[in-house]
Amino acid sequence: MRLDVVTIFPEYLAPLDLSLIGRARAAGLVDLRVHDLREHTTDRHRTVDDAPLGGGAGMVMRPEPWGPALAEVVRAGRADGLAGPPHLLVPSPAGQPLTQQVVHELAAQPWLAFACGRYEGVDERVLEEAAEAMPVTPVSLGDYVLNGGEVAVLAIVEAVVRLLPGVVGNPASLVEESHADGLLEAPVYTRPAVWQGREVPEVLLSGHHARIARWRREQSLARTARRRPDLLAALDPAVLDAADVAFLATLGWHVHGGRLSRR
Ligand code: ADE
Repeated sequence: MRLDVVTIFPEYLAPLDLSLIGRARAAGLVDLRVHDLREHTTDRHRTVDDAPLGGGAGMVMRPEPWGPALAEVVRAGRADGLAGPPHLLVPSPAGQPLTQQVVHELAAQPWLAFACGRYEGVDERVLEEAAEAMPVTPVSLGDYVLNGGEVAVLAIVEAVVRLLPGVVGNPASLVEESHADGLLEAPVYTRPAVWQGREVPEVLLSGHHARIARWRREQSLARTARRRPDLLAALDPAVLDAADVAFLATLGWHVHGGRLSRR
């Protein structure tokens, strides 16, 4: 997979050399390139921002350097033999929420590019202009505000790259984790069996696989009901078996009109 990141802080992306992502890069599974937006400024002060037109607080990224910066990303990718244009992701608190489902869709694409805004964001015409040449999606990490897109890119790249074949050692761990099936994962434990007087749930030491699977499933349902009732309400009841439905009823959740709700 090819990844291009355009930013005014290339050093911010240094952690992508580490750990699992660093190994994936070294193994040639991802080709990640970071580009400095300021290389495409033409004035002496290498200006990238200006006051918002119409007034208001903060600064907006000027459009001029973005045109050539994105054109250069596309040109270089094509020169390296990539077929299509990249899918351009623009991190923004005003973007579409990033979910594991979206991450899966992104992981299936051969080429992603990221435009990191700082300050109050990027002049909207940059997105309009880019959309004539490539798919453009503003994405949000959540309902809070970061200082810029760089931290969001670190998160998105990590979430996407770990799904690429060969990156995570044991692919089974991707199936059991939180959000894989619309639920939060059950709590996990390891040795010792007793720590600070606290025992691990006895069922996990039983060696009884079916009982363990049932216990995990119920923990997962109960935890989701408690922490993320919004996920439970959005779940397709078709993924529940009779034992799930009976267990959820003990928590006050019932299937009604093809949806789960708490009554
Ligand atoms: N840039 C600033 N805030 C952001 C957020 N919540 N998600 C993605 N990018 C951002």
